Formats: sequence, structure tokens, C-alpha cells
Amino acid sequence: VSFFDKKKDLTGKEVLLTAGPTNEAIDPVRFIGNHSSGKMGIAIAYELAEQGALVNLILGPSHIPVDHPLIKVFKVSSASEMYQSCQQHHLSADICIFAAAVADYTPETVATEKIKKSEDEIILKLKKNVDIAASLGKVKAPGQIHIGFALETQNEEINALSKLKNKNFDMVVLNSMRDSGAGFQHDTNKVTFYFKNGDRQNLALLSKKEVAAHIVTAIKSLTPPN
Ligand code: CTP
Ligand code: CA
Repeated sequence: VSFFDKKKDLTGKEVLLTAGPTNEAIDPVRFIGNHSSGKMGIAIAYELAEQGALVNLILGPSHIPVDHPLIKVFKVSSASEMYQSCQQHHLSADICIFAAAVADYTPETVATEKIKKSEDEIILKLKKNVDIAASLGKVKAPGQIHIGFALETQNEEINALSKLKNKNFDMVVLNSMRDSGAGFQHDTNKVTFYFKNGDRQNLALLSKKEVAAHIVTAIKSLTPPN
């Protein structure tokens, strides 16, 4: 089906979607980041918008341009900024999707001036960031659907299932790092869906656009029509 043939099944639905990495400042010129490109989340945003949903995309630093009348982009840098922006959009959302690679830790203090090179060793103390998905999972509105991701290198299934439960997700997308060509900085992903009701769905190695289409189909099976 072409863009124009696509059924606008999601018209009237509002989505909160996090995507991309976060940058955690060390000093005015340095930060701790990660290799997330934002590709997977942005592909989901387009898929949803093409089907008529209004998407509030809370996007960490990403080079990918986003331009669609139904996608509102809120650019953020740190995990804490991402959380604040999410808090402004989660109440009105029918669907929340947490696709961002949020930094788990952030520097305890940010140096106000550029740190000068002196000692042979320096220690950077980090403190835990807020878990955006878990925090919003605790205040989930009735009927609201939450979808999360799990990126694992070991005990994939156990870890994915514990994220499903602990973060109050309706579905978790397990990103398998075992297969080459999957995950960060790649155009393809190997994923498995785990649903709250115990169902699961294994997908083949697919392009991120194809994975996005499957995710949106799964979301529609969880969402009551308007
Ligand atoms: N997540 C989030 N806020 C955080 C950390 C994670 O919203 N501070 C979300 C991610 O967007 C993803 C899910 O939680 O949807 C799982 O992220 P992941 O990094 O796999 O799990 P963590 O709970 O952070 O545990 P760990 O990194 O130890 O595996
Ligand atoms: Ca993490």
C-alpha cells in the first residue's frame, strides 16, 4: 500500500513517544552519551502519523530530520529534560511509547567551567537518573497503553519480561543484540514482542521501517478504536 492508501485507523489518537539518546553534561563542552541514532523511534513516529495519529515526539540529540504535519517534535538533551517534557504530554496521551536510549546515570555535579587537564586520574561521580517509563507507568491513565523496549546482551527473555512487569508496560519490544546487523546504528532490527497477557511474537531480521509497521499493528490490537 502506498502512503495515500494507508487506512487512517489512528485518527484522533494522541501518542507520546520518546526517541534518541540523551546527553548528560560533564562540563560546558563535554557530555556522556550513547550510540542511539533515534532511527527506530522516528520510524515509529512516521508510521503512526501516516495512519492519522498525532505524535508528540520527545527527541534526544539526533541528526535525523523529522518533518510531518502530525509529528510535533520536542527537542531535549538530558534525561531530566526528557522527563520534564514527557510529564507535559503523558496525561493527554492514548498511547505512550518509550523508545529512547535514556542514560541510566548522570554526573552528580556539572562543572561550571571546562575541566582542565592536570591529574593522571580523575574520578567522575554519577547518580541515577529518573526512570521515565517506570515513573509514568505508576500514573498510567485508565485505558492508556504503554510500550517499552528492552536492549539486552544476556538473559534476554527474563530481563525483557521483568521490564514488562516492573514498568507496567502492555508490551515490550526486545531488541536482540546477538544478531549482527541489529540494534544501534544499524538499519535493521531483530525483535520479539512480549505482551502483558502472555502472548509473544517473534519477528525476522527486518528493516527498522518494517519493525515500526509491526509495532504499530501490535499497538492497534491493544488500543480500543475511537
Ligand atoms: N527507560 C526510561 N528511562 C530511563 C531508563 C529506561 O524511560 N531512565 C525506558 C527505555 O526507553 C526503555 C525501557 O525503559 O523503553 C528499558 O530500558 P533499558 O535501558 O533496556 O532498561 P533499564 O530499566 O534502564 O535497565 P538496564 O539498562 O539495567 O537493562
Ligand atoms: Ca538502561
